[in-house]
Amino acid sequence: MEEQKKRMLSMVQPSGHLTLGNYLGAIRNWTTLQDEYDCVFALADLHAITVRQKPADLRRNTYEVLAQYMAAGLDPEKSVLFIQSHVAAHAQLAWVLNCYTMFGELSRMTQFKDKSRSHADNINAGLFDYPVLMAADILLYQPNYVPVGIDQLQHIEICRDIAQRFNSAYSETFTIPEPYLGKMGGKVMSLSEPTKKMSKSDPNPNGFILLMDKPEDIMRKFKRAVTDSDMRVVCREDKPGVSNLITIYAQATGKTIEEVEAEFEGKGYGEFKPAVGEAVVEMLRPIREETERLLGDKAYLEKVYRDGAQKAERIAQRTLDKVYRKVGFVKR
Ligand code: TYM
Repeated sequence: MEEQKKRMLSMVQPSGHLTLGNYLGAIRNWTTLQDEYDCVFALADLHAITVRQKPADLRRNTYEVLAQYMAAGLDPEKSVLFIQSHVAAHAQLAWVLNCYTMFGELSRMTQFKDKSRSHADNINAGLFDYPVLMAADILLYQPNYVPVGIDQLQHIEICRDIAQRFNSAYSETFTIPEPYLGKMGGKVMSLSEPTKKMSKSDPNPNGFILLMDKPEDIMRKFKRAVTDSDMRVVCREDKPGVSNLITIYAQATGKTIEEVEAEFEGKGYGEFKPAVGEAVVEMLRPIREETERLLGDKAYLEKVYRDGAQKAERIAQRTLDKVYRKVGFVKR
């Protein structure tokens, strides 16, 4: 039975505190997939250093994100949870895949272009090579699906291209993965600039909600959220701010978009915005509390990531051995 389950893999960078976008676009969906799929979820700390990190912050955020994975409902008994830098095969496969990835295709990645603009003083080779490491993360585990938010689709596309190129040069080696998007929340937008995605690296803290934000901060940010002058609570392309709030509220309460529109018909934003804030506060409260509890139990978190690394390593090493053999490396 176990053997027949399809596999899923995904990761989050512990490059800061997680946002509501990371939760609704990614982690929350993962928790519902754990029984149906054979799941592997990791913390992409190798990716995080493509942008300068304070070492103490990176270490603390790595523990925090692991605790948040579990507080959100990822169960280390069901899913493999580990830290990317603990499994050497990620960096090793990334090197091999570099030699099957073209400069031109990496130059076209929109995230690289965006990050080159926002970190103009540190356009390092790792930032450029980031999608290849991500391809290695994925292909090592031979997953069928990669559940992500919309902003990562281009990276999955290049991963598929690299895998296909390698397979056609050396015979079937990698499973070609497909992206897996949740029904809603694939792109949670900034509260202050609703045409931009919500991001933990936004210099304006009113644009994002952090999973660890205090209830009063969450309420304040929603009350200040940018909307429009129309005053009607309806989801429409020319109302990006309101549409974003409706989607968030729908996800926090389990209602459909139509139900939310009906609930606030004839009511203005003065009533709607605090309602969204309250729903988000209640959705995040148990996660924040459980994260805090888990962070107080370092020994347990350490056991989880050590066990996870062992399981991950076994799967990853099998793929790496196969790749090394195919490209012609001599076995030690
Ligand atoms: P990262 O750390 O930027 O984001 C983690 C996940 O959260 C999703 N996400 C969002 N979804 C909806 N709305 C938003 N505003 C929003 N912001 C972030 C992302 O789409 C992602 O699913 N490169 C990846 C990490 C990575 C990875 C991997 C992912 C490394 N290796 C292998 C999948 C497979 C990243 O930077 O995600």
